[in-house]
Amino acid sequence: MRSLWLNTLTKQSLYRLSTKRYSTNVEPKEPVVKTKSIPGPKSIELKKQLDSVQATGTIQFFADYEKSIGNYIYDVDGNILLDVYTQISSVPLGYNHPRLYKVFNNEQNLKTLINRPALGVFPGKEWPEKLHSVLLNIAPKGLNKITTMMCGSCSNENAYKSIFIWYQNKLRGNAPLTEQEKNSCMINIPPGAPKLSILSFKGAFHGRTLGALSTTHSKYIHKLDVPSFDWPIASFPEYRYPLDENVAHNKKEDEKCLSEVQDLIQQYASKNPVAGIVVEPIQSEGGDNEASPEFFRSLQAICKKNGIALLIDEVQTGGGSTGKFWAHEHFELESPPDVVTFSKKLQLGGYFHNDDFIPNEPYRIFNTWMGDPGKVLLLEEVVKVIQEEKLLANVDVAGKVLKNGLLSLEKEFPHILNSTRGRGTFLAVNCTNTKVRDQIIGALKLHGIQTGGCGEISIRFRPALIFKEYHANIVLDRFRKVLQGI
Ligand SMILES: Cc1ncc(COP(=O)(O)O)c(C=O)c1O
Repeated sequence: MRSLWLNTLTKQSLYRLSTKRYSTNVEPKEPVVKTKSIPGPKSIELKKQLDSVQATGTIQFFADYEKSIGNYIYDVDGNILLDVYTQISSVPLGYNHPRLYKVFNNEQNLKTLINRPALGVFPGKEWPEKLHSVLLNIAPKGLNKITTMMCGSCSNENAYKSIFIWYQNKLRGNAPLTEQEKNSCMINIPPGAPKLSILSFKGAFHGRTLGALSTTHSKYIHKLDVPSFDWPIASFPEYRYPLDENVAHNKKEDEKCLSEVQDLIQQYASKNPVAGIVVEPIQSEGGDNEASPEFFRSLQAICKKNGIALLIDEVQTGGGSTGKFWAHEHFELESPPDVVTFSKKLQLGGYFHNDDFIPNEPYRIFNTWMGDPGKVLLLEEVVKVIQEEKLLANVDVAGKVLKNGLLSLEKEFPHILNSTRGRGTFLAVNCTNTKVRDQIIGALKLHGIQTGGCGEISIRFRPALIFKEYHANIVLDRFRKVLQGI
């Protein structure tokens, strides 16, 4: 048995891990589409198999991750798509990056991967050093504490808890917990389970777990039939484009929404006081809705004035694709936000904060894994590659080409496209209506380009950080062909 296992390991895994494979595996010159439709026949067959054990309504195709490389995702039918959607914006260095391949080709790292600890109780000896050298190395300026988690939703979920605990502790004046508080929380009533809220924005997406879902408002399908908290929901600015031709309208939008935030804080003060505000730097799932740096600076001022926390959800925007590692760096806030959540490109979830958001008692923010040191090893390499290869500068260059190209397409096809927007390669464009948008996304796929939709009418671009100008030109060329056929 053992020799059979070793034999298999030697022949397959070790071969795959050999350095030769890294160097021979290169990106194709361009996308290749072999089937008349995607999903092709093999994907459809696999979908049938999976259908017997799982819901498959969201599956687009089955990928071949052995073959996928760089910016290209291969499917099981031999189609090779230039991927500008990257697993919902979560692949920083493309597929099978040679540097990531090598991470577990090291016995110590392999042991970290295999012996996954309950990090809150039995962290490995290297954990403090890794948190410092990897996570604090990329921490948003001014935030020096980190809580690691599993995914975006659970990062927000626990960040909300940290905010509530911080808020109550302030009210309590740091006093010890009372017996009444301890007993009442056990039956979900105040004072132990206080009536507090997190204010969120229309169009926001912060995840699908119960608390996070109460702050998610992008599509009814995420929320239907699930009870929600009575928490305030403010309007988010609805900008007109191009920005420089719509300054007055957009400024009015900012002012209207900010005054709504202030009003809601007052309205909720007597029923569910607002302990924090959660906001995305660019509302992503909700349609790549932007707000100005001035909007975010004023939002922070409102938080400070009312003694509530500002949580910036960088789950989708964090990791470099806006041209800065954290999108909120573009806003030049007066002081650091209180909490910043992350996941996706950072490989594991979590949130940055300061000392105030660490509860006084243990086990208040806790779960079994609390992240994954194996993923931190990957992140360590991701960050090194970003720095060594100056990928944030690359994002700016490639992003400019893609954005200018989209603006040109907008001019060529004004009856189909409008409102190109975004920063770096984190870009989107609107289509006339949902039907046309979906038609374009489907046709783009058959022209070898994998994109994604967001909101009702937008196409979003979320390429990896290794996406270059020539990739942008391929996307634009295929996009033009698609638009000519609409
Ligand atoms: C801004 C934002 N927050 C939270 C989440 C939830 O993350 P996850 O799907 O990892 O739970 C997402 C996911 O798309 C997101 O875009």
